[in-house]
Amino acid sequence: MTTALDVRALEAQRLLQNYRRFPVVFTRGEGIRLFDEDGRPYLDFLSGIGVASLGHAHPVLTRALTDQAATLLHTSNLYYHPLQAELAQRLTTLSGLDRAFFCNSGTEAIEACLKFARRYWYTQGQPRSKFVALWHGFHGRTMGALSVTWDAHYRTPFEPLVPTATTLDSDDPEALLAAVDADTAAIVVEPVRGEGGVRPVPAPLASAIADACRRSGALLIADEVQSGSWRTGTFLHAPSIGLEPDLVALAKALGAGVPVGAVLLRERVASTVAAGDHGTTYGGNLLACRAALTFLDVVDTLHDRMRAASARLFERLRALQAARPDIVTDVRGAGLIAGFEVTVDALAVVNAALERGLIVNRTSNTVLRLLPPYIVTPADVDDAVDILDQAIGAVVS
Ligand SMILES: Cc1ncc(COP(=O)(O)O)c(C=O)c1O
Repeated sequence: MTTALDVRALEAQRLLQNYRRFPVVFTRGEGIRLFDEDGRPYLDFLSGIGVASLGHAHPVLTRALTDQAATLLHTSNLYYHPLQAELAQRLTTLSGLDRAFFCNSGTEAIEACLKFARRYWYTQGQPRSKFVALWHGFHGRTMGALSVTWDAHYRTPFEPLVPTATTLDSDDPEALLAAVDADTAAIVVEPVRGEGGVRPVPAPLASAIADACRRSGALLIADEVQSGSWRTGTFLHAPSIGLEPDLVALAKALGAGVPVGAVLLRERVASTVAAGDHGTTYGGNLLACRAALTFLDVVDTLHDRMRAASARLFERLRALQAARPDIVTDVRGAGLIAGFEVTVDALAVVNAALERGLIVNRTSNTVLRLLPPYIVTPADVDDAVDILDQAIGAVVS
């Protein structure tokens, strides 16, 4: 049998070393738990960075994917199949936008949004070159998405990127208004900045964004890759902060573990994209669409439970902050995305939690992030926060 040591040794020899992994090999999952090769259970409060929205081996998803694999997986976008239109209809109804485009990941969805925004202005006969994006925004690793990503350490080794993209260096509404002008094709907004430390866009900034779009005509791209697909309690988060995007990027939770990306667009933008302007071989194949349709069906049965789990999560995290005010200094988030600021080394807390059978992650040296699957219960939340408290206790002792 291959052991964890074998796996790590072989990876060290043969795999591109672009990931820093924790020393655990997961071989199985069930519900909210992952199991390592020795059968040890871990409570999963990260869901593969917000992806495994229905937990692991969900029986309804398992049946749907098995059935789809036995029926038809992929035909390419040269032909019709029955599931893309159905998924597009469900997503446009949920979001109030008009059309959908399917791809395979978050960064592809952002890349498509940037291209569609440029296409829109090109079609108007007045091409616009600029993109303005927020402080602490993260949008992916391809060249366009990287150009609108704030953290310079992701960007610098790969420059020059799109030269007309700028990222702001504060949440100051005036700075946003000053950065947007008549050459701005689009403003790119992550309504809750996940990788940037679970930072919801503050109300004054949200109204400046709406104002800047109105004044300059710039399109609004909402990156809901992490905050969308019901993660924050509503299908999209942008409308909860008063924003009406022209384009929305989705991925992560939408496929419940199967790679699915999507862009939802208003008709005025969609109508400018002609056949051949953009495309992907895999995007919207039958397996991907079946996964997303099944996710949407199952999530409809989970809303009460998600609300209860969310309320318990923030109640327990705020109690943790009250009990350890010198260690936990801020609790942020909405629905089932939570982040909290710590004065100790966040990585040490992540490691101490993992040793105790809880999976969480950190977005920086001082921010811990929780992204549990949507099947989480208030009792799971209690277990997780108890372990977090012990992990913090072990780090500070
Ligand atoms: C808000 C946001 N946008 C885009 C991406 C990129 O998605 P992917 O890793 O699927 O390319 C991420 C990934 O973490 C994200 O959180």
